[in-house]
Amino acid sequence: MITITTIDEMRVWCDAARRAGRRVGLVPTMGFFHDGHVSLMRAARDAGDTVVVSIFVNPLQFGPSEDLDRYPRDLERDRELARDAGVEVLFVPSVDEMYPRPPLTTVHVDALTGGLCGASRPTHFDGVTTVVAKLFSIVGPGRAYFGRKDFQQLAVVRRMTADLNLPVEVVGCPLVREPDGVAMSSRNANLDERERAAARVLVAALRDAVDALRRGERDAATLRRVLSARVDAEALATLDYAEVVDAGDLTPLARLDDGGEVLVAVAARIGKTRLIDNMTVIVDGDDVRADPGITAPVPASE
Ligand code: PAJ
Repeated sequence: MITITTIDEMRVWCDAARRAGRRVGLVPTMGFFHDGHVSLMRAARDAGDTVVVSIFVNPLQFGPSEDLDRYPRDLERDRELARDAGVEVLFVPSVDEMYPRPPLTTVHVDALTGGLCGASRPTHFDGVTTVVAKLFSIVGPGRAYFGRKDFQQLAVVRRMTADLNLPVEVVGCPLVREPDGVAMSSRNANLDERERAAARVLVAALRDAVDALRRGERDAATLRRVLSARVDAEALATLDYAEVVDAGDLTPLARLDDGGEVLVAVAARIGKTRLIDNMTVIVDGDDVRADPGITAPVPASE
């Protein structure tokens, strides 16, 4: 595995790989890897792609009072995990390399970015889509891999890719959880012991909502109250949002009895750390099929 830090070198390497008949698979990340990141790298490798992983803590997607300075980093450890996962290139550009001057051109995806995380992070998704568009342009991947942990991000990137006819297949991968159910996140490293225990309230709230659905509850406002009641009962947690939306267009639902895929999503601050979690659910008459994701350690697939 090699590490590349310049855009020019990255382009040259990817051009050569494509000329050799290989398809490049890109896994965009901000580093500080956990099993969620590793599962994306393995998915790319298992699909037969030549795997490029980018590590770039993108300042453009952090608001002025957000945790850019506190974002955890450990390049040496990341290198080992990536090498073990079959990654061929780590692309680790500096902020100056990616943004030699403040960009006058950004990518904005409308509507999908207004609710959920977009409501409390109004500039976040423009930062995400702008950097992802740049990475697609630099690397030229045939496929790019994103986790369903960030369900809204995946939906927004998919829509950008379709609207701009970018020649990339966007692949969504399962949400990976810690053994106690907490969604894996680089930000979990910023939690102290009490906060880490309190972080379980997000998945607990989602399970409460799915249980209510299984008992026949179909009113979305009631389900939102089920979610928020659980988060509010945790003294260390402050609710950001508790939502039940259409998984396709992310618009809020009133009732859940018409069959489509539903996203149940929650975000909360635990101390200074903002965490998100979600489950998708398909309601089909009395049948409620929830997708809670998968639990680490993710078995190696051969
Ligand atoms: P980051 O938070 O590092 O996540 C990189 C990728 O890993 C994203 O696609 C994210 O959805 C996925 N991921 C994170 N935690 C996961 C989990 N528990 N299970 C499955 N997948 C998980 O998301 C970003 O970086 C950035 O916004 C980025 C897309 C790189 C743009 O800067």
